[in-house]
Amino acid sequence: MLNKYYLTTAIDYVNGAPHIGHAYEKILTDIIARHYSLRTDNMFFLTGTDEHGIKIQKTAASQGITPKQLCDENAQKFKDAWAKLDIKYNRFIRTTDKDHEQIVQKIFQKLKDKGAIYKHEYEGWYCQGCECFLNPKDLTEDGLCPDHLKKPDVVKEENYFFKLTDYKDAIIKHIKEHPDFIVPSFRANEVLNQLEDIQDISVSRSKENVGWGIDILDDSEQSIYVWIDALSNYITAIGYDPDGSSEQFKNLWPVDVHVIGKDILKFHAIYWPAILMALDLPLPKHIFAHGWITIDETKMSKSLGNVVSPTSVLENFELKYPDAFRYYMATSAPCGRDGNYSDQDFKEKVNAHLANSMGNLLNRSLSMLVKYFDGEIKPEFIENRSQEAESLLKTAIGTIKIVENHFNHFEIQEAAQEIISLVDATNKFVTDNAPWTLAKEEKMTQCGQVLATVLEIMCVISSLIYPYCPNIATDMAKQLSYDVATKYDDITVSNIKAGKLITKEEIFPVFLRVDSELADKSKK
Ligand code: ME8
Ligand code: MG
Repeated sequence: MLNKYYLTTAIDYVNGAPHIGHAYEKILTDIIARHYSLRTDNMFFLTGTDEHGIKIQKTAASQGITPKQLCDENAQKFKDAWAKLDIKYNRFIRTTDKDHEQIVQKIFQKLKDKGAIYKHEYEGWYCQGCECFLNPKDLTEDGLCPDHLKKPDVVKEENYFFKLTDYKDAIIKHIKEHPDFIVPSFRANEVLNQLEDIQDISVSRSKENVGWGIDILDDSEQSIYVWIDALSNYITAIGYDPDGSSEQFKNLWPVDVHVIGKDILKFHAIYWPAILMALDLPLPKHIFAHGWITIDETKMSKSLGNVVSPTSVLENFELKYPDAFRYYMATSAPCGRDGNYSDQDFKEKVNAHLANSMGNLLNRSLSMLVKYFDGEIKPEFIENRSQEAESLLKTAIGTIKIVENHFNHFEIQEAAQEIISLVDATNKFVTDNAPWTLAKEEKMTQCGQVLATVLEIMCVISSLIYPYCPNIATDMAKQLSYDVATKYDDITVSNIKAGKLITKEEIFPVFLRVDSELADKSKK
């Protein structure tokens, strides 16, 4: 067992409603969180919203409402969406929360007192989409931000600057000495290249230009740069305080992983470590940069009108649980690569994996147990099993370790493939041993042993699939009289006990094929 696991998502800008890309990240993180909740009693999952900055100020102004009104409205939309997707966080931080704002002011003061922040007159190109100054050499030929394809604002201000350059060598050293600091590792080179020509960064804006930000304690004309505010959420949320942090903070920091999108890696792998070093705090163990989600292989954009809401898939297919959508999203791309959503692919994949392979296997086995044995496990079914059965049971326990190892490397799709392989191997075991034929030949003990073995493995499978599909896993476990909250370290292959397991009436399918007649009927 691990003594703790602390993980975070990026905090989303609230200048609009959430979309499927935001959902992808929260689903991935929730899956990692639920996985680790079965490996420690002390898991903490943080998510939230990023509410200050010029972008939000402008959006609010264009809608004729105050920035705070816009934030309240949209933060609620994020919370509602996460509730529908069964994202089970421990805290939802908003950067307008008072406790956060106060500590950010102290953090800024501490950096200033330390001499890590100085004042400087500056002219630069500010991209509102990125909420940062761009290096002229990174602009497109037409002088646009390469990510947002918009012309940055020319800004001339006297600002506070953070001495990022002081930390350059230490960060390069850290990245080189910790090959698993940046996940996937192929992104580390990108960061090392960006480090080559970093400069000190502006960490305040004049209040005249950006009014919607946290005030600097002893300077009424400047507000704190949105990224310092935003990144600090990872420590303020759990009780960091320059004057003495909470027990919770001491217990949870350093964070085990920051889950973020690849577009904001620079902020997390360069700016954030430098700030932490300046605060004398240890660095995150891992920064996991996931890829981007496209829709039907096209980049989502307002102008293309193909922005998909995080819950539209649940609505369109009238899904009772978010499980299938969570499973699909989480397995849409290998670790760190871009993924894609398409309705057709969604249907095919979840029908094949969750209905035909996994759900059916449980349903068939339980039905046979009822048909041949009135739902009872006889003592001899769980003793002296065949070598083939013992070896499959061993594979099942081995799969737990393999899955854990994938999660250690944030290989969420890869871990799911292992689980489905176990399902496939178990299906093959059923086909090869044909319990229906054994029953016909009146080899009842053998028949019962095959069924008990399969049900035993289904317990393990319910535990393994739980992080992806918490409702389906719970429904599986219920029919197996198994505790789905069993810690991975405690899982054995003697979950199925002799005695009556189930009656005909207690059997129900855990996942109905999307678009099937049955699924349609159950909705009516
Ligand atoms: O960057 N596919 O907020 P944000 C996958 N507030 N992920 C996507 C995506 C897509 N199509 N679109 C966005 C910010 N994301 C800052 C973060 S953290 C201290 C501050 C991801 O609302 C994106 O990569 O623009 C990021 O991780 C998250 O959604 C929030 O993006
Ligand atoms: Mg963004």
